[in-house]
Amino acid sequence: MQKLAIQGGRPLRGEVRISGAKNAALPIMCASLLTADTLHLTNLPDLHDVGTMRKLLQQMGVTVETAAGEITFKGDKIDKWEAPYDMVKTMRAAILVLGPLVARFGDAKVSLPGGCAIGSRPVDLHIKGLQAMGAEIAIEHGYIHAKAKRLKGARIFFDIVSVTGTENLMMAAVLADGVTVLENAAREPEVIDLANCLRSMGAKISGDGTDNITIIGVESLRGATHHIMPDRIESGTFLVAAAATGGSITLRETRADILETVLEKLTEAGAKIVVDGDTIHLEMNGRPKSVNVRTAPHPAFPTDMQAQFMALNCIADGSAMVVETIFENRFMHVQELRRLGAQIDVEGNTSVVRGVAKLEGATVMATDLRASACLVIAGLVAEGETVIDRIYHLDRGYEHIESKLGQLGASIRRVK
Ligand code: UD1
Repeated sequence: MQKLAIQGGRPLRGEVRISGAKNAALPIMCASLLTADTLHLTNLPDLHDVGTMRKLLQQMGVTVETAAGEITFKGDKIDKWEAPYDMVKTMRAAILVLGPLVARFGDAKVSLPGGCAIGSRPVDLHIKGLQAMGAEIAIEHGYIHAKAKRLKGARIFFDIVSVTGTENLMMAAVLADGVTVLENAAREPEVIDLANCLRSMGAKISGDGTDNITIIGVESLRGATHHIMPDRIESGTFLVAAAATGGSITLRETRADILETVLEKLTEAGAKIVVDGDTIHLEMNGRPKSVNVRTAPHPAFPTDMQAQFMALNCIADGSAMVVETIFENRFMHVQELRRLGAQIDVEGNTSVVRGVAKLEGATVMATDLRASACLVIAGLVAEGETVIDRIYHLDRGYEHIESKLGQLGASIRRVK
C-alpha cells in the first residue's frame, strides 16, 4: 500500500493550476448515457474516481476515447444497464447512472451503496424521486432495480438537501414526459455545471443554483462540448495549506465566486487574499488565528472543507469550534491529528480545537478523502517527518497532489 512521507516546516510558495472538479466531472460523465450522440469533455481531472466512472460507463457499452485535450463519450451502443457492487462500493457517485439509465432505457440496476467511513449515507431520496416520476422500484439482492415505460414529470420535495440526489433526478427529468419541479434542491456550483452541460445537449432546465429547479422534459438530447468547472475543494485545500504553513501562493484557472465562505474564513484567520480574474493569491504572515466553522449545504461552509480547516485550527492562535451538520461521522481525522499533538475535544457533531504552537510528525492513517487532505496539511506544518498511510483515498479526489505540492516547495514523496 502506498504512503506519503512529508518533511514539515516549509512554507508553500509559488503558483499552481487548479484541476477540473471531481464532483462536476462525475455527474457530467453520466450525462453521456442520455444521448446516442458524442459528448466531448475538456478539463476532466486525472483522478481515480474519474477512471472508475469511465470503466463503469465502458462496461455499459459507452465508447470512450481520448483525443488531444478532451475525452469523448458516445452512448450509441449501450446494452447493459447495470452498475455492479464492486464499482459502487469504491465510488458512491456510481449511483448517478440510475437516473439517466431509467430515463433513456426504462430500466436500470444499480447496487445499493453500503455505509462509508463518514456515515450511513442512504439513497432513499433518489429512489423516492424516481418513484414520484412513475418508476417501479424493487430492492433485490442488494440492488436497486428501477423500471419505467417513460418517466413522467413530477413535483419532488427533498426533505434533506442532497447534491447527487438533485443531480440524479435532474438527469432523469430531462427526458421525462412533462414538467418536473425539484424543491429544496441542492444549490452547489457543480449542480449548475451539470445543468449547463445538459442545456448544451438540448435540455430545458431553469432555476439551477436556486433551491427550486424546473425541468421541461424533451424527447431526446444531442451531443455537446463542455469544459468542466474548476475544483473548489482542491482550490480551498491548497489555500488552507498555504495559510497553515505561512506561505504565499497563487492559484490559476480557478474561480473565487464558488469559494466565498472559504475565502471569508481564511481572511478571518489573517490571510491576505487578492482575486484577479481566474487567479487567487493568498499570503499569510505569522500564525493564523482560530476560526469557527459550521458546515451546511451551499452557499454555507462546505463539509468537504471541514477537515482542512480543522488542521489549520490545530496550529492557530486561540480556540475554535468546528460543527459538522451534514455527515454524522466526519471527525475520523481527529484521532489522527491528536497523534501529531493536536488538542481536540469532540462532543457529538461538535469539535473544540485548542491551537498549539507546533505539531510533531508521526505516522498517521487516512480514513477518507478529505480527512487525507487534512493530514497532508498537518504534515506540512508538523516538525519532522509525517508518514500518511492509505493514501488511495487521496488519489480518488486530488490530481497529482504530491507533484503539485512539490512544485510549491513542499518536501513530499510517495513511498511503497
Ligand atoms: C456530495 C458530494 C460530496 C459532499 C456531499 C455534501 C459528489 C460526488 N459528492 O455527496 O463530496 O461531501 O455532497 O456536500 O458530489 N441523504 C439522505 N438520503 C439520500 C441522500 C442523502 O439522507 O437519499 C443525506 C446524506 O446521508 C447526508 C446529506 O443527505 O447526510 C447530504 O448528502 P448528499 O448531498 O446526498 O451527499 P452526496 O451527494 O452523496
